[in-house]
Amino acid sequence: MLEHNETVARQLEHRTIREFTNDPVPKETLDTILAVANRTATSTGLQSYSIVRVTDGDVRGRIAEVCRQEYVSRFPELLIFIADVYRNRQIALEQGVDLGTSRDMDRFFQGFTDACLAAQNITVAIESMGMGAVFLGSILNDAAKIIEILRLPELTFPVLGVGFGVPAQNPQIKPRMDMSLKVFENAYGTFDSYTEAIADYDREMREYYDLRESGRRSDDFSKQVVKRLQSPIAGRYLMLNAVKAQGFDLGIEVLGRTDR
Ligand SMILES: Cc1cc2nc3c(=O)[nH]c(=O)nc-3n(C[C@H](O)[C@H](O)[C@H](O)COP(=O)(O)O)c2cc1C
Repeated sequence: MLEHNETVARQLEHRTIREFTNDPVPKETLDTILAVANRTATSTGLQSYSIVRVTDGDVRGRIAEVCRQEYVSRFPELLIFIADVYRNRQIALEQGVDLGTSRDMDRFFQGFTDACLAAQNITVAIESMGMGAVFLGSILNDAAKIIEILRLPELTFPVLGVGFGVPAQNPQIKPRMDMSLKVFENAYGTFDSYTEAIADYDREMREYYDLRESGRRSDDFSKQVVKRLQSPIAGRYLMLNAVKAQGFDLGIEVLGRTDR
């Protein structure tokens, strides 16, 4: 087994990059990255995702507004990963088959997972090429707006953006909590005191300089948890409304009836 190799070494050095040089990503490089997306494992082989490459400055600007992150307009490349059940439904419709099941949450989650995996797979490729990348979950601050901007048809849903290019910053590696808190054997384990269990991690986090916060030192992780969970974004916790508006059947049982 080749335990130590270049791929793993790169993965262990992962850092999110948010500032890039003006160098464009060459077409052949982009083609390779897209080929990696295409090769990614996909639920039941159905490839229920699509990618929208955003090159138009105006479209970029509108997406940046939703993300509330101005650097989005400056990424050399921006790909938006979409859960896509629309295409397969059309393929079935053209055979005269109208599949009610294409609206199920099962199909939605297959598409969502496919999109996430393809997005992560390309970031491994991007980093292996010496470039850097950032995920944009912030497109979901207002999913309906992204749907409008990208003109997404029914049975599609935006999942994640990936911005990438040549890094123009060299951020510190962001500490992670110990895997003993996150890996269990055979059954889930709980801790008597999480505060104690993450005390070392809290200390490490205080030593981390976050370039996103103008290079200030980070808060304890435990404080970040409270701060983040205390400030939900309305557009995000009401996201299922946008999922439903795209034609998916949430399939939630309310007093014995499903939410159709
Ligand atoms: C699903 C997901 C969504 C994310 N969304 C954003 C985002 O909208 N904007 C951003 O700047 N970073 C985003 N990130 C990057 C995280 O902030 C980053 O991975 C995390 O702080 C850990 O830092 P590191 O990747 O440098 O180790 C996202 C990461 C993931 C996995």
